[in-house]
Amino acid sequence: MKYSKYSVIIIGSGIAGMYSALKLTEHTNMPDGILLISKYKLGDGNSKYAQGGIVGVLRENPTDSCVSHINDTLKAGAGLSEINAVKFISESSDEVIHDLMGYGIDFDKNSKGELCFTLEAAHSIRRILHAGGDATGRKIDEGLCKCVLENEDITVYEDTLAVELLISKEGECKGVIAYNSITDEYEVIYSAHTILATGGTGQLYKYTTNPAGATGDGLVLAYNAGAELRDLEFIQFHPTSLAVEGGENRFLISEAVRGEGAKLIDKSGQEFMSKYHDKRELAPRDIVTRAINSEMHLKHLDKVYLNTSSIDRSTILNRFPTIAGVCRKNGIDITKSPIPVSPAAHYSMGGVKTDLNGCTSIKGLYAIGEVSSTGLHGANRLASNSLLECVVCAWSLADYLSFANLVAPKMIDGTIKETIEGYEQNIDDVIYNTDKLKAELQQLMWDNVGIIRSEEGLTEALKKIQFLKSMFRKTKRCLNMDEYEYRNMLEAAELITTAALNRRESRGAHYRSDYPQTEEHGEHSLIKKGETQVAYQILH
Ligand code: FAD
Ligand code: SIN
Repeated sequence: MKYSKYSVIIIGSGIAGMYSALKLTEHTNMPDGILLISKYKLGDGNSKYAQGGIVGVLRENPTDSCVSHINDTLKAGAGLSEINAVKFISESSDEVIHDLMGYGIDFDKNSKGELCFTLEAAHSIRRILHAGGDATGRKIDEGLCKCVLENEDITVYEDTLAVELLISKEGECKGVIAYNSITDEYEVIYSAHTILATGGTGQLYKYTTNPAGATGDGLVLAYNAGAELRDLEFIQFHPTSLAVEGGENRFLISEAVRGEGAKLIDKSGQEFMSKYHDKRELAPRDIVTRAINSEMHLKHLDKVYLNTSSIDRSTILNRFPTIAGVCRKNGIDITKSPIPVSPAAHYSMGGVKTDLNGCTSIKGLYAIGEVSSTGLHGANRLASNSLLECVVCAWSLADYLSFANLVAPKMIDGTIKETIEGYEQNIDDVIYNTDKLKAELQQLMWDNVGIIRSEEGLTEALKKIQFLKSMFRKTKRCLNMDEYEYRNMLEAAELITTAALNRRESRGAHYRSDYPQTEEHGEHSLIKKGETQVAYQILH
C-alpha cells in the first residue's frame, strides 16, 4: 500500500473537476498540493460529449435577463428547484463564463465577431453559447485539459479509481483510497478537503447518451461515507438519441437541432407534438420524451424521426458538423433524410446534497457538477444548465476553500485504519462476468425504473437488484475496475429505485402510471445510510 497527502483531492476530471482545480491554484498557495484523479484518461466523462451548449445570461445579450432565465429554470424544474440556487447560478453566469473564456475557450461568433446564442427547449430566449458548432463540451474539455497539464501545481493521476472515502471516528472526510487499474496498486491519499466531481449515472440504463464511466460512483462513495443524497429518482431521459442498430450507448441528436426548427414525425411522416404541448418540439424535455414514448407505444414503433427539411443545408452543416458526421457514418445524410431517434437516459438531476459552496453534510467532503444536488434542476433540468452549474459551483467552491485550513491531516484514527485494512485482505478467486451482469442490470433499470414507472415494476426491480447484490463479491476489495463499477451500479440502482418507489406522485422526469397526479407542494426526497425510510424535505 502506498501513502501520500494533499491539501485538496479532486475526484473526476470532467469540466467541474478540471475547472475547480484551475481555480484553486489561482486562489491560494496549497501547502500540500492539489491532486486530480480520474478513473480513465484526463478529460474523459460526460462533459466531453456535451453538444448544445452552455447557458449564459451575458452582458453581450441585452435582450436576456436573469429574471427570464430564473423563470424558465423554475418552470422546467416542476416545483422542485431551490430559488436561491437558481438565482445564484444565473446571476453568476456572466462573470464565470467570461472567466472561462480566459482559459482559451472560444465560443462561436458570427461574421461580425459577436457571440452566437442558440435556442433550446423551454428557454424563452436565445441564450445558449456553443463552440465548434455542436462540439461545446469537447472544446471546453480540451481547453481545460491543456491548462491543467500546463499547470505545475496540479498533480494528475489517470486510470485511478476512488474506491472508498476515508471517514474519521468523528465522521469527517480525511481523503480517499484509490486503485490504479493499470498497476493494480492501491494508494491511501490523505487530504484536508476531498471534492467529488464524478459525473452521472447514465450507464445504469440500457440506452444512454452517457459514456462508459457514468456508473454513479460518486453517489455511492458519498452514501457509504454517510452523506445525505437528494432527489435521486429524477433521471432525465433525453428525447432524441440516434436510434440505429448496434451499441446501446446512444449518440445524442442535440435539442439545438429542434431549436433551429427540426420537427418530430412518425414513420408515415406525420408530426405529432401539437397533441402534447403548445410549445411542440420545444416543450420541456420530460414532456417531449413522454410524447415520443407514447407515440412509439401506440403505433408499435421502436423509433420516431427528426425532420430537418425546414433548416437550410448550409445552416445545418455549419451548426451541426459533429451530428452530420456521425449520421453520415451511419448512412444518413441529414440534409436529405430524417434522423431516426428515440429517448435515452441522459442526466441525473439529484445527487449528493450540497449548499452553494459545494459543502455536503460531511465535513471535508464537497460535491460539484452532475454528482451534486444544488437544487438548480428540481425535477427536470432545463437544457444547457448543467455545464453552467459545473463551472459556477467549481468557481464558488474554489473561492470558499481559499479561506479554509489547507494542511493535509496527520493523525489517523482507528476507524480509518480499519478501512485501509479492508483493502489489504486477499479476495477469493471467483470470476464474475461483469459485462453480462452490467447488461442484465441495465435492461432491468430500463424496463422498470425508466420513463414510465409503477409500484409493481419498481418493487420487482428492487427485489432483483437486492438479489444481484447478494450474489456479488463480499470483500471490500474487488478484482478490477469493472467489478468496482458494477458494484457501484448495483448500489446506485438500489438507491434510485428506492427513491422512485417512495415518491407516490408524478413530477418532472419522474412519471408514475399509478400516481399520475402532481402533489400541490413539492418536497425533496432524502436518503442517508442507516436510515431505513426515505425522508422528505420542504422546499426553501
Ligand atoms: P463528467 O464530465 O461526467 O466527469 C466525471 C469524471 O469523474 C470523469 O473524469 C470520470 O472518469 C471521473 N470519475 C467517475 N467516477 C470516478 C471514480 N470512482 N474515481 C475516479 N474518477 C471517477 N449539459 C449542458 O449543459 N449542455 C449540453 O449541451 C449538454 N450536452 C450533453 C450531451 C451528452 C451526450 C451528455 C452525455 C451530456 C450532456 N450534458 C449537457 C450534460 C453535461 O455534459 C454533464 O452533466 C456535465 O458535463 C457533467 O460534468 P461533470 O464534470 O460533473 O462530470
Ligand atoms: C443537447 O444538446 O440536447 C443536450 C443539452 C443538455 O443536455 O443540456
